[in-house]
Amino acid sequence: MRVTIGQIKEMKRKGQKIPMLTAYDYSTARAVDDLGVPIILVGDSLGMVILGYDSTVPVTLDMIVHHTRAVTRGATKALVVADMPFMTYHTSVSDALRNAGRLIQEGGAQAVKLEGGAYMAETVHRLVECGIPVQGHLGLTPQSINTLGGYRVQGRTPAAAKQLLDDALALEGAGAFSVVLELVPAPLARLVSQALTIPTIGIGAGPHCDGQVQVISDILGLVPDFVPKHAKQYVRLGDLVRKAIGEYTADVQAGTFPTAQHGSTMDEALLADLSAEVETLRQKREPRG
Ligand code: KIV
Repeated sequence: MRVTIGQIKEMKRKGQKIPMLTAYDYSTARAVDDLGVPIILVGDSLGMVILGYDSTVPVTLDMIVHHTRAVTRGATKALVVADMPFMTYHTSVSDALRNAGRLIQEGGAQAVKLEGGAYMAETVHRLVECGIPVQGHLGLTPQSINTLGGYRVQGRTPAAAKQLLDDALALEGAGAFSVVLELVPAPLARLVSQALTIPTIGIGAGPHCDGQVQVISDILGLVPDFVPKHAKQYVRLGDLVRKAIGEYTADVQAGTFPTAQHGSTMDEALLADLSAEVETLRQKREPRG
């Protein structure tokens, strides 16, 4: 049985913390799903950690559809949330409906996430009305990096803190099933979490949110020398990967891989016939003196 948005909301009511992780491919999604993580996000962070862009802005709807398909083939139990990329929900409510519809129908996601507060409430309301669950995203909204000017903590001034609370309430009022709070001071995230009946999912927003989300490559240490302040590196996978690639390369160069155990044998009589044929060919090719 797949996790539902009702169960996610129930987790908050019961005081159960909600883990959420990103995944962008089939095998990672399988691992995350097998370990019982209830929400998998196909985040537009894939633009940076998978595709090598320097922001999430270049990510297109086709890219998210493609990766969401891979993730939903691997995850059979988690609620899969697909990120709506930059400019796929800003131009009109009908564009947002059409594009979110693709993530659900073609990608196989069960919900979408979009960035923005009260000004997105009408869009959220219409998506929910049409049967598409929506997760909001407030605080540091990476798609606005060109106006924010940097990946900095948000909601620090009285006006910004009040705005963030109002935005969260507007998203809840519009029918969002949860809200991501990214790079928000921990005391503010706690207040917002207390004010909402829907779960808050924090990233760099302290321990008082109802759940936590992390970019999987950060917690796995795929780029070991880059650890964002809000992330905890559980393993330095990037180091292990480099070590393994180095050993493989050395094995191939030294002729120590593959060995007989990595291959297969064949019928001896057939081999003898073919060997004779090859020998004849070689003799014909040999330069005559
Ligand atoms: O794209 C993403 O990975 C996200 C998380 C940081 C919440 O939006």
